[in-house]
Amino acid sequence: MLIDDFGRTIDYLRISVTDRCNLRCNYCIPKGFKGFKDSDHWISTEEILRVVYNFSVLGTHHFRLTGGEPLLRKNIVELVRDMKAIDQVTDLSITTNATLLEDKAEALFEAGLDRLNISLDSLNSKHMEAITGSNCLENILAGLSAAKRAGFQKVRINMVVMPDRNVDEIEEMLRFCIQHQYILCLIEVMPMGESGRGTASVYLQETVKRLEKNFKLQPTTKKIGNGPARYWETKSGFVNLGLITPLSQHFCETCNRVRLTVDGTLLMCLGQDNSFELKPLLRNLCSDEALQNAIMQAIKLKPKAHDFLEQPKKVNRIMSMTGG
Ligand code: GTP
Ligand code: 5AD
Ligand code: SF4
Repeated sequence: MLIDDFGRTIDYLRISVTDRCNLRCNYCIPKGFKGFKDSDHWISTEEILRVVYNFSVLGTHHFRLTGGEPLLRKNIVELVRDMKAIDQVTDLSITTNATLLEDKAEALFEAGLDRLNISLDSLNSKHMEAITGSNCLENILAGLSAAKRAGFQKVRINMVVMPDRNVDEIEEMLRFCIQHQYILCLIEVMPMGESGRGTASVYLQETVKRLEKNFKLQPTTKKIGNGPARYWETKSGFVNLGLITPLSQHFCETCNRVRLTVDGTLLMCLGQDNSFELKPLLRNLCSDEALQNAIMQAIKLKPKAHDFLEQPKKVNRIMSMTGG
């Protein structure tokens, strides 16, 4: 079991399998961004699997593949299948923009993927183009339908709420999600890099009061997934709203996760720079025992909390390089 210096159990590893993305959401990647490192620096699928195996031996059961856009990574389906072949990997999920999902949903389901979270900020194609820089809505909706057809249950839609772009579309999105039985998760923008900092955030506490009233929702302790969202359900017990509030009500005291970047570095917190490089050990073909010792040492570096509010300029890594 991995326990950090603040008594938190770490049992969730988020793995970024690429820092690239085929979209340019304006809170995520700065316009014209050219700072991606060459893919020669990336760790291989085999190296990812070694890290996963050793985390699982240390008690981690929840894994999420992220990016950038994870479906851009070659052999993503094989990676899912090989991860699910590890006994202790009981919860494996992907966060994707769904633009490439239509063709991959069935294979991912067959490979054993447990859950999907899909980033979708608007149902208006012009607004989506303004947010992502791409005419992508139709592809995303096709990806969502394919996920449902393939058999995925409890698909979650992540909507990053911005005052000048989509704050007026929350009700419409929630109705859409209720109609199609998706869960809607509203997210406050985090000041990650220039793009995150340059995007104003909506504090969601007031929004949720309005939704509780208009959609007759009540808070529930039911847990979906293993992340920081709090959830709301209807009287009949169907969970359809989630809230991630890193700014207005942060959740660092219950943080249970670390991130692995595409170049093999463990990031200990989304909002701090504490990190530990695993790649040199992986390249030296170190033993499992040495890798597990390194992971335990890394967990000691996990900070108590982010300080996005006090020091919004501290984190210069952009989200796509951080692993969402
Ligand atoms: P579930 O397992 O379904 O709960 O997923 P998740 O919420 O952990 O993952 P997802 O990739 O869908 O992330 C949704 C949002 O939560 C993204 O904006 C993440 O950056 C944010 N998030 C996830 N973990 C953390 C964290 O440790 N700290 C902060 N501040 N935000 C986080
Ligand atoms: N703040 C909050 N969420 C963000 N995401 C990307 N950038 C930011 C940001 N600056 C979200 C995406 C995706 C998830 C992995 O992270 O919308 O759903
Ligand atoms: Fe791509 Fe996701 Fe970043 Fe949008 S938020 S640019 S979909 S990685």
